[in-house]
Amino acid sequence: MAKTIEFRGMPCRRLGNSGLWVSEIGLGLWKWGYPEYDGSRVGEHLGFQILDRALEMGVFHWDTANSYNAGSGNSERLLGQYFSRRPSIVRDQVMLATKVSNHHRQEHELGSYPTNSTAFTPNQIGASRIYLMREVEHCLQKMQTDRIDLLYLHSAHTWSGIGVGKTDWITPLEETWSTMDDLITQGKVRYVAVSNHSAEQTRAVMEVMRQVGKDASRMIVAVENCYSLAERGAVAADEAGDEQAFLDFCKETGLSIVPFFPLAGGLLTGRYTADNLDQVEGRLTTEGIGPRFLTEKGLKLAAEVARMAEKKGCSSAQLAIAWLLSHEQIGSVIAGVTKLEHLEDNGTAFNVELTAEELAELDAISR
Ligand SMILES: NC(=O)c1ccc[n+]([C@@H]2O[C@H](COP(=O)([O-])OP(=O)(O)OC[C@H]3O[C@@H](n4cnc5c(N)ncnc54)[C@H](OP(=O)(O)O)[C@@H]3O)[C@@H](O)[C@H]2O)c1
Repeated sequence: MAKTIEFRGMPCRRLGNSGLWVSEIGLGLWKWGYPEYDGSRVGEHLGFQILDRALEMGVFHWDTANSYNAGSGNSERLLGQYFSRRPSIVRDQVMLATKVSNHHRQEHELGSYPTNSTAFTPNQIGASRIYLMREVEHCLQKMQTDRIDLLYLHSAHTWSGIGVGKTDWITPLEETWSTMDDLITQGKVRYVAVSNHSAEQTRAVMEVMRQVGKDASRMIVAVENCYSLAERGAVAADEAGDEQAFLDFCKETGLSIVPFFPLAGGLLTGRYTADNLDQVEGRLTTEGIGPRFLTEKGLKLAAEVARMAEKKGCSSAQLAIAWLLSHEQIGSVIAGVTKLEHLEDNGTAFNVELTAEELAELDAISR
C-alpha cells in the first residue's frame, strides 16, 4: 500500500529522513511585509486573507527569512501579527520555516538592502555563534512564537562568495552547526537545513553535523536552492551547474529539495509574452530581477509552457509546479503568491499528473 498522508486533501511529503511533514504546495513569503516601508507586494490586509485560505486548502508549509523584505524583516513581523490574532491551534498547524545569515534592519526603516552598510559589524551577518544566537531571538520575537520549526542557514558564507560552491568557510563549520544543534536542544528550533549550498558544501555540513550533533536525529533535512524549468542548473548552486549530479546527490543522501523561484519569479505563469511586456504590471516588469528571467530564451520557454498547459487543461503555473513535484527529491513547492487567485491556482497543482511523454516534452523545451 502506498504510504501517503494528506491534510485537508493536500498531499504531504517528509523532509529528508526526518519526521517533519510538509504540504506539497507551500507558500513563499519573500514579497510580504509592509509595502509602504519596504517595497513588498503584500501587506497585512490581503496577507491575512491569503494565510487563512492557505490553511483551509491544506497549504501549511510557510517559508520566510529574517531579512525579508529588503532587509527589513517585515515578512516575519507580518507573520507575528497574524499568529497573535489567531487561535494557538493555527500556529501548531503551520510548519514555519525561516532563514538566517543576512543583515536585517530595525523596524520600518526605509532604504535599500543594507549589504554594505557601515551600520553593521561583521558579527551581524554570517554563520557565527554570536550572530546565530541573537538572530534566532529576533526571529522568535518578530514572529511572536516560541519556536522555529525549520531553520535554514540562508547561504553558504565562504570567502569565495555565494553560488560558487567552495568550502573556504568564513566561520568554522563546527561552530555554525554546533550552535544550530544547541538551538535544537534549547527548544528554539526543531529542524535545521541549508539554502544556497552546493552538493560539496552540503556534504561537508552533513558530515560536521554527524560529529557535533547530539544524536543521529540532528541532521540536515533539506536544501533550499533555486530550481525551475527556466533555471535547471541553478539547483546545483555552483559554477558547474550540473542539475542531474545534484539530484543524484540528494537521492543518495536522502535530502529534500525545496526549490525557490519555482515559477521563475512569475515567468512560468503565462503572464509575460514577448509582445506584452509594456502592459504587464508584475514583479518581472517592475523589479530588478526582471532582466534575469525576461530573456528571449525565457519568453520562448514561457510560451511553450503556456501552449502545453492549454492542451493539458491546466494553468502554466500548475504545469511548472507539477514538473517540480514529479521529482521524488522535491519536498514542497513554495511559490510566492501576491493575490488570492494565485493561491487558488497553485494550491491545486498537485492534481496535475504528467505522463512520460509530457515530461519528455518539458525536458526538451527547457534544455
Ligand atoms: N533561499 C533563498 O535564497 C530564496 C531566494 C528567493 C526566494 N526564496 C523563497 O522562495 C519563494 C518563492 O520564490 P519567489 O516568490 O521569489 O518566486 P516565484 O515563486 O518563482 O514567483 C512568484 C511570483 O509569481 C507570480 N505568481 C505566482 N503564482 C501565480 C499564478 N498562479 N498566476 C500568476 N502569477 C503568479 C507572482 O508575481 P507578481 O508578484 O508579479 O504578481 C509572484 O510574486 C519566496 O517567496 C521565498 O520564500 C528563497
